[in-house]
Amino acid sequence: MEHLTLLILGAGWTSNFLIPLLQSSSIPFAATTTSGRTVSGVPTIPFKFDPANTPEEDLRTAISSLPAAKYILITFPLTGKGPSKALIELYNATHQSRSSSSSSSQEARFIQLGSTGIWGAGRTLAAPEDKQKVEKELAEKRGGDPWMDRHSPINSSNPRAIAEIELLSLGGMVLNLSGLWGGERQPQNWIPRVAATKEAVRGKTSLHLIHGEDIARAVVAIVTDDEEGDRWESGGGRGQRWMLTDGFVYDWWALLAGWAEDKKEGKVREQGGWVRELMEEEGVRALPRGMERLGRCYDSREFWRVWGVMPLRAGVLGEEGR
Ligand SMILES: NC(=O)c1ccc[n+]([C@@H]2O[C@H](COP(=O)([O-])OP(=O)(O)OC[C@H]3O[C@@H](n4cnc5c(N)ncnc54)[C@H](OP(=O)(O)O)[C@@H]3O)[C@@H](O)[C@H]2O)c1
Ligand SMILES: *[C@@H]1O[C@H](CO)[C@@H](O)[C@H](O)[C@H]1NC(C)=O
Ligand SMILES: *[C@@H]1O[C@H](CO)[C@@H](O)[C@H](O)[C@H]1NC(C)=O
Ligand SMILES: *[C@@H]1O[C@H](CO)[C@@H](O)[C@H](O)[C@H]1NC(C)=O
Repeated sequence: MEHLTLLILGAGWTSNFLIPLLQSSSIPFAATTTSGRTVSGVPTIPFKFDPANTPEEDLRTAISSLPAAKYILITFPLTGKGPSKALIELYNATHQSRSSSSSSSQEARFIQLGSTGIWGAGRTLAAPEDKQKVEKELAEKRGGDPWMDRHSPINSSNPRAIAEIELLSLGGMVLNLSGLWGGERQPQNWIPRVAATKEAVRGKTSLHLIHGEDIARAVVAIVTDDEEGDRWESGGGRGQRWMLTDGFVYDWWALLAGWAEDKKEGKVREQGGWVRELMEEEGVRALPRGMERLGRCYDSREFWRVWGVMPLRAGVLGEEGR
């Protein structure tokens, strides 16, 4: 059987954007879900990776049954030490190329989707005051500099970070995604959850986003690159962690002020009024606030430069329900 270009392990939300782009680009691919359901009109292979609760032999059988592909995109989180190694080594051991025994370029290349949470307190900290404390400590460590990029230190005790570090050490690539939006995921819909009270709005600082279509374009650029050169081997892929945003640092207050009118419901949101009050209370003359007041600011230019892609869906304020 001919090798596929891409095997998607976990055809979830991102695949709503990725699968149509793979199809229109005529890139051979296959995808899995835990149930084998159809995603974007494509039947998927049932696959559930749970090494802690699966006997070694069953794990080996399940992984050896996956189709051979040049790139493997893992969209679900791996945590702690062990799972990344088990997946990569078992896949590698059961998918040795028959045509060539020598070249290491025959080894599958693993890409893990992660989140930018590892650079901060993450979503795991439920209490906002705990989160603010950790953020403050992190900012102090940076000497007050709000800027962070892919080279900034991560929280290596985060269980996802541990799994990613292992994957990187085995030659994989990690894409740490900022907030995912597009389709059903509209940032306006997050307002009741993240900005329910005036005090919650007071604590809202920066927001970083990446649209599903731009994630899809980034993945396609990576898996089709070897036609032109080999960015994977020359510092772009193997062992590299990247941060992906659309290049904007959004100010939550500016977004809430811009979304003061709920056009769908035909009413005014109270968050807009709270922002006006907070501007008076906190001495903010106009929006957006300056970077130094926004806490964390991500600089993700390097990914787009190295991989020669440009985000097309940047600037969420101008979007209306797309
Ligand atoms: N939400 C955000 O704003 C945000 C921000 C940054 C990064 N991220 C990260 O971005 C990544 C992609 O997100 P997404 O929304 O596309 O994910 P998603 O929709 O949850 O998709 C995950 C896919 O993986 C499959 N899956 C889950 N656990 C599995 C397991 N143990 N073994 C095999 N397959 C498994 C799921 O199968 P089923 O389809 O059968 O359920 C699903 O197809 C995630 O790692 C997420 O944490 C999210
Ligand atoms: C993959 O298998 C080859 C051949 O057995 C081996 O040399 C290589 O180290 C393996 N790579 C990984 C990441 O396990
Ligand atoms: C990315 O961030 C997630 C944060 O949740 C973290 O757990 C994960 O380890 C990081 N992955 C990457 C790719 O950084
Ligand atoms: C690092 O991650 C751990 C585990 O998720 C968490 O308990 C801790 O508060 C985090 N520390 C920092 C400085 O973000």
